[in-house]
Amino acid sequence: MARITASVYTSHVPAIGAALDLGKTTEPYWQPLFAGYDLSKRWFAEQKPDVVFLVYNDHATAFSLDLIPTFAIGTGARFEPADEGWGPRPVPPVIGHPDLAAHIAHSVIQDDFDLTIVNRMDVDHGLTVPLSLMSGQPAAWPCSVIPFAVNVVQYPVPSGRRCFMLGQAIRRAVESYGPDLNVQIWGTGGMSHQLQGPRAGLINREWDQRFLDRLIADPQALSRVVHDDYVREAGSEGIELVMWLIARGAMADVNGGSAPRVVHRFYHVPASNTAVGHLILENS
Ligand code: DHB
Ligand code: FE
Repeated sequence: MARITASVYTSHVPAIGAALDLGKTTEPYWQPLFAGYDLSKRWFAEQKPDVVFLVYNDHATAFSLDLIPTFAIGTGARFEPADEGWGPRPVPPVIGHPDLAAHIAHSVIQDDFDLTIVNRMDVDHGLTVPLSLMSGQPAAWPCSVIPFAVNVVQYPVPSGRRCFMLGQAIRRAVESYGPDLNVQIWGTGGMSHQLQGPRAGLINREWDQRFLDRLIADPQALSRVVHDDYVREAGSEGIELVMWLIARGAMADVNGGSAPRVVHRFYHVPASNTAVGHLILENS
């Protein structure tokens, strides 16, 4: 039977991908940030998951105002890195897991969550930067990846509560899949950041740290935080953090099991215009 063994949470700032691709990781500006992922890369290489279910948001790359799926699951066999204006990142294609993705789509839709099925799309920095942070610059990504895109760009966006409950449904789906697979679920985006308007550059360290505390210890209550609070406290793009609640909702302790082990916690300011947060939780 497939199992969700761990969840990973990380910001997905595009400049991090550029720093990696352009060989700048040891520069003084970037070194402390990449150092925060050294343990994560070792841990990820040891864990050897078969599949990462990667929750991210598309930044008007594969989708646009023409078509705005709230939740979209990538059921294809392969997803190419997107051209976001400077050419595609020089990273490997993403190899999907069509059979597990189709099973999850079936189970989650029967469980009352309406997903959009996507057989073909390119994936942007929201997905490739977390893969780079966790695995460096391999010739091929070390495992299959099921892209799961959430609309946090164009309102109305889903509530934190809905995201948390969706994570619980994704757990039920994965754990009802027959083949033995080690599956991780990742939530990406955040932490506090605002990219436009008079408050551009907003960082709220206290709020971010409290979010990490609550994500670990009291995710159910955290899931009830409303959009206005995210936007006021964490900036307009801080709303990306609702995606972390999908990953957290898929962990054992909020589905009748025991509390996760905190493998790693990291927080760094700044990376481009944002605060970077990172957490690894392992099911026991
Ligand atoms: C930036 C873009 C993002 O999507 C994000 O999550 C953080 C930062 C940026 O353009 O700097
Ligand atoms: Fe983003």
